[in-house]
This record gives sequence, structure tokens and C-alpha cells, in this order.
Amino acid sequence: MNTRIVLARRPVGWVEESCFAVESCTEPQAGPGDVVVQSIYLSTDPYLRGRMNDGPSYAASFQVGHPIVSRVVARVIDSRHEGFAVGDYVWGFLDWAQRSLVRRGQGLQRIDASLGRVSHAVSVLGMPGLTAWIGVAELGRPVPGETVYISSAEGAVGQLAGQFARRMGARVVGSAGSDDKVAFLRERCGFDAAFNYKARDLDDALREHCPDGIDVYFDNVGGATLEAALRHANVAARFPVCGMISGYNALEDPGIRGLHALLVKRIQMTGFIIYDHVHKLPAYLARVAPWVRRGEVVFHEDIVQGLERAPAALIGMLRGEAIGKRLVQVAPESAA
Ligand SMILES: NC(=O)c1ccc[n+]([C@@H]2O[C@H](COP(=O)([O-])OP(=O)(O)OC[C@H]3O[C@@H](n4cnc5c(N)ncnc54)[C@H](OP(=O)(O)O)[C@@H]3O)[C@@H](O)[C@H]2O)c1
Repeated sequence: MNTRIVLARRPVGWVEESCFAVESCTEPQAGPGDVVVQSIYLSTDPYLRGRMNDGPSYAASFQVGHPIVSRVVARVIDSRHEGFAVGDYVWGFLDWAQRSLVRRGQGLQRIDASLGRVSHAVSVLGMPGLTAWIGVAELGRPVPGETVYISSAEGAVGQLAGQFARRMGARVVGSAGSDDKVAFLRERCGFDAAFNYKARDLDDALREHCPDGIDVYFDNVGGATLEAALRHANVAARFPVCGMISGYNALEDPGIRGLHALLVKRIQMTGFIIYDHVHKLPAYLARVAPWVRRGEVVFHEDIVQGLERAPAALIGMLRGEAIGKRLVQVAPESAA
């Protein structure tokens, strides 16, 4: 029997496992032009929390009683579409289900398995990677010798943002929520400095690790961290605003203090959404896939096993229990 994860109720404040339900559903049958896929990896992303709310945003709200949808790496198990063959690896915005019907193959992208691991299509060689690249290369634009500070630095986006900034000659400082994450940043990702924001006063840590001030702040978290970065920013600093996860489960917006720094220090603070940049993915892959293949850029995935554990995996990622990109493995890669 096929199974899927649906939104059982909308969260109020922190998302809980009771917001989800695991239910049986029909086995998909391909009609003319359709494709049936077996899910392999589900991507857990912070923005899924926003989609659990009712109300307008850049991504549509999930509906109560309907499946959670995210980027999913899958394998074609039946195809009546000339563009897809049984055994192809693909990714698409698919239901959190064992198996899915993709009518007319719509939105399904074939994965070039020669580029790297198939899971990379939703991590380093997909959305999180492109997000890090746009934030650093187009908006942060560090020059050699400048200081780049990255919050949630060991996450899917942050670990790459730091490595890209270092390749551009910057001095890179990251913050993360555990000593293990800090060690990962220093030892695996080559960050020049890193600190545990839960164990340090932010101002003390930024004074110590950014003695010449911050030239680029890559914001993944907002809140108190953004306020501290504003206090330590240099004149003409750039602040690419990628995410503000500290507020995603908050009952109300706590606001940001110290915005006068934007004026006094002539800071360019720019929000961006990756949907506006997807056409840049081929150029990104041409540049970055060889770095990954040669091991010049490292990328860590944290893989939880089992579809039924997807709600707990998502909640755990939001709470900071994962190092790197959290995926949920639904079936072996060889599933056919
Ligand atoms: N603009 C776009 O198009 C775009 C695209 C992708 C992602 N994003 C955003 O980029 C950010 C990172 O995404 P990701 O996929 O790479 O997620 P991630 O960093 O892999 O995972 C989220 C991390 O956020 C940290 N966190 C949670 N609450 C926090 C708080 N109050 N203060 C500081 N850190 C907190 C947790 O780590 P700790 O242990 O460090 O707390 C957790 O591991 C998110 O804000 C996301 O919404 C934006």
C-alpha cells in the first residue's frame, strides 16, 4: 500500500508532530503521458514551516488534509512519457509519499548522475547551492581581505556560502548552535573562525572573531544575530538576507532594533528569493560541480531513514539537531 504525509493541522508557534498525519493512499497508475516515481530523498527546508501557515507568501500554503510537498529525488518506476524511462533518476516538487503520479511528467527534471550523488540535485548541486552562490557572488561580492560573517553557517546554505566566500579571498567567520557544528566549520569547511552562538555573547564573539568589522553579513537567521551584525558592520557593508529562521516559529514578529545602522554605515541590505534566479542553475553547475567532484568544495548531508520519520526530521532540522543538509531517505537509491 502507498503511504503519504499530510498536514493534519496548522501549527501555532512551534510545529509539533501532531501537525502531521501518516496515511494510506492509492497506488498511482500511469495514464497516457504520465510518469510514476518512487521517492528516494525528501528535502526538509526551513521555508516549509512558512507553508504550514495560512496566508500569502512567496510559496503557496499547504492545505489541511493534503500532502506536504517539497523537492524530492525519485526514480521512475513506470513511464508512459517519451521523455522519461524506467530507472531514470529525477527530481521535482512532489508529495511526501512512497510513490507519486506525475501527470504528463510536469515539472519533473532528469538528474545527470554523472555530476555527483543523486541527492546532490536537492543540495549542493541544487537549490541550497545556488542560493549560497547568489547570496555571496552577486549580493555579498566580497573582495580579497574582507570579512564575511555567516549565521547558521553549518547548514545546507551556510556551509557553501562560507566556502564560496573563501574562494573569493575573504576571511570567513561562521556561527552555529553547537560545538560539533563549530568543529565541522573549522575542520571540514575551512572557515577561518567559528563560534557557538548559544555559548557566547554575540558582541564579544564578533569583537573577537571580526576584529576589523564585518564587510558582508550573510543572514540566515535574522533576530538578535542580525541586530549584532548591524552593530559590528563596516561602512558600505553588504547584507544579503537569505532567511530569518529565528522568527519562523514565533507567535509574533519581535522586530529588529538598530536599523539606523543602515543609514549611518550606508549598508546595502538585500533580500532575495531563489525562485528569481533558477535560470542561473546551468551556469552554477558548470562552475561548481567540478569543485565538488575534485573535493575542493565539501558538502555534508544528514540523512534520516524512513518516510514516517519525515515530520520529526523536519522539526529537528528547525530546532538545529542536524549538521548540514537534512534529507529523509524513503527508499534505497537502487529502488526500481
Ligand atoms: N532566500 C531563499 O531563496 C532561500 C533559499 C534557501 C534557504 N533559505 C533560508 O536560508 C536559511 C538556511 O536554510 P538551510 O536550508 O540552509 O537550513 P539549515 O541552515 O540547514 O537549517 C536550519 C538551521 O537554523 C538554525 N537555527 C534555528 N533557529 C535558530 C535561531 N533562533 N538562531 C540561529 N539559528 C537558528 C539551526 O541551527 P543551529 O544549531 O545553529 O541553531 C538549524 O540547523 C533559512 O533561513 C532558510 O529559510 C532561503
